[in-house]
Amino acid sequence: MRSSIVTAWLPVALLNGATVSAAHMSKPQSSSRSNSIECTACGTKPGAFFLAGDSTTAVRGGWGDGFLTFLQSPAWGINYGHSGATTASFVAGGDWAKVISSVKNNTAKAQCFVTIQFGHNDQKEKAGISIAKFQSNLQKLAGEVKTAGGIPVLLTPLTRRSFSSGKSTVDDSLHSERLATIAAAKESETHYIDLNAASMAYVNALGKDKSQVFNLDPSDRTHLNDHGGVVFGRMVADLLMGRNQTTKPVAGSCATEEDGFPSGCLAQWFKPDDKMSDAIWQGLPA
Ligand SMILES: *[C@@H]1O[C@H](CO)[C@@H](O)[C@H](O)[C@H]1NC(C)=O
Ligand SMILES: *[C@@H]1O[C@H](CO)[C@@H](O)[C@H](O)[C@H]1NC(C)=O
Repeated sequence: MRSSIVTAWLPVALLNGATVSAAHMSKPQSSSRSNSIECTACGTKPGAFFLAGDSTTAVRGGWGDGFLTFLQSPAWGINYGHSGATTASFVAGGDWAKVISSVKNNTAKAQCFVTIQFGHNDQKEKAGISIAKFQSNLQKLAGEVKTAGGIPVLLTPLTRRSFSSGKSTVDDSLHSERLATIAAAKESETHYIDLNAASMAYVNALGKDKSQVFNLDPSDRTHLNDHGGVVFGRMVADLLMGRNQTTKPVAGSCATEEDGFPSGCLAQWFKPDDKMSDAIWQGLPA
């Protein structure tokens, strides 16, 4: 099953000294909850997080800077989000080269992660990027991160907060881009997090009015103000650590794959904020 490969990818990469065998990876339940082993194996280098994306990741408007506020030293990160970017322009304009350069420069001393989130601009007609091209662009980016020595994580795009008149659920306006991102992850055996589904579920739980508090300006239902950046940055951090609407965190920072936390090793790099996390995953104002 392809999906289980995808789920298993991140922990393998995390434990990567290139020494962890596939047998270890696919062992369904390590009886002794080998937490100490997992912690030791993944705790030697600090995490470094490089964020690639469009304005919904970028400084002023995106979740990236909010996400970075949750990193716990010695983990660190850089927000490379670029307003207006597509999977093509991000490369053509030189942003991607900086991301890859950051991975190469730091991979010896840090475990480098690259989050990749696009779609908002790729879907615009003027971009001239087909959905198939969008998917293959994502696969290419993921592959380049791996070649550079980093761990790519594909993110389905953050939802907008637009409700068509008469509708009580948020518009599913990035549906195809979500599916293409997941397909890209499966095709390239890259880990992904479903930010689109999680953010839609959250916005729907809050409802039309309460979800507008995150708007950069009152009528901007795409971009995030500072508070929105922190809330959705927290959502991304939690998703990376394996939390979502149906999973619960496990005490301690080294939850394992069996616990439903494929990336439990990541928890050591994030400051907890249980109050905000609980609000997000219970669908309450955060
Ligand atoms: C990586 O290191 C090289 C050599 O020191 C430097 O020129 C380049 O700016 C660095 N890249 C980034 C993104 O900091
Ligand atoms: C939540 O995460 C679990 C474990 O990774 C996964 O099986 C499940 O599909 C996810 N649920 C949602 C709603 O994304």
